[in-house]
Amino acid sequence: MTLQIGILYSRIRKDEKLLLTELRERGHEVTKIDVRKQTFDISEAAAEFADLDIVVDRCLATSRSLYATQFFDAYGIPVVNSHETADVCADKVKNSLALEKAGVPTPKTKVAFTKETAMEAIEEFGYPCVLKPVVGSWGRLMAKIDSPDAAEAILEHKATLGHYEHKVFYVQEFVEKPGRDIRVLAVDGEPVAAMVRSSDHWITNAAKGAETDVFELDDEAKKLVQKSSDAVGGGLLGVDLMETADVSGSHSEGSQTESGQRYTVHEVNHTVEFKALNDAVETDVAGTVVDWLEAKATAANASEAELEVTF
Ligand SMILES: Nc1ncnc2c1ncn2[C@@H]1O[C@H](COP(=O)(O)OP(=O)(O)O)[C@@H](O)[C@H]1O
Ligand SMILES: [Mg+2]
Repeated sequence: MTLQIGILYSRIRKDEKLLLTELRERGHEVTKIDVRKQTFDISEAAAEFADLDIVVDRCLATSRSLYATQFFDAYGIPVVNSHETADVCADKVKNSLALEKAGVPTPKTKVAFTKETAMEAIEEFGYPCVLKPVVGSWGRLMAKIDSPDAAEAILEHKATLGHYEHKVFYVQEFVEKPGRDIRVLAVDGEPVAAMVRSSDHWITNAAKGAETDVFELDDEAKKLVQKSSDAVGGGLLGVDLMETADVSGSHSEGSQTESGQRYTVHEVNHTVEFKALNDAVETDVAGTVVDWLEAKATAANASEAELEVTF
């Protein structure tokens, strides 16, 4: 069945190229929607959206994702990821709250709104601990705080120079991970592929130059991926986990280890990049993602047809 698929984007990266190639090879019709050139009317959808079965949000800028997805909701066109998912994933505070609420092991985190209370939170965690921007990715503007002097300096900088979002202080325990973390690409909680990202630096994002290698998920990790995906509303997601046990199998200190957990989930990403993963694993990542998209679009069409019959 040929589908009409909209791709919402601002830049076609390797990730989007992989998707576009796969979609076209399968004979689907792709409408590219450049958010920089498009306007969105509150009362009616643009003519070129009329026959779309599904829209895939690949916007780079979070603000664009958050608004554009609301328009497709309003037009009654299915969009992945959904606005609700994007909203939770785009914000580290909402993300952490959702994971905690769902009972997913996640690093201990506190939020404060002034330098003074942020300092209190930092002192409670002790050194080192981590300060993150609430909105952001690729490991940017994250700080590992090793001393009270460093804490004071960075809080002062953020309070004085920071954008509005940097006035929300997101403080987290430092997790003694074994020099790497795990990225899992999942579709509605079902893992597509996973990799470890290793680095001498404490920030192990692929965008920061970490080395990547394929990773086989065990049952515990699979369960956590499903739970994390459900916690944020599902979709095409990048689930980031850290291992809380060291290589010899003994546990590092931390809340998760007390309950025998071997992983902690530090975030779920919504407009996830997968080019690094695609290079690291044997799996046909774009192919699996498109399988899922086809199923989503077909299910959406079926439920629409059912509605038409009912009314
Ligand atoms: N609490 C932590 N303790 C130790 N390392 C961390 C912690 N939080 C993040 N990191 C490291 O920093 C990287 C980026 O953090 P993350 O919260 O995923 O932010 P981003 O959204 O920028 O990717 C992680 O992949 C991990 O390697
Ligand atoms: Mg991350």
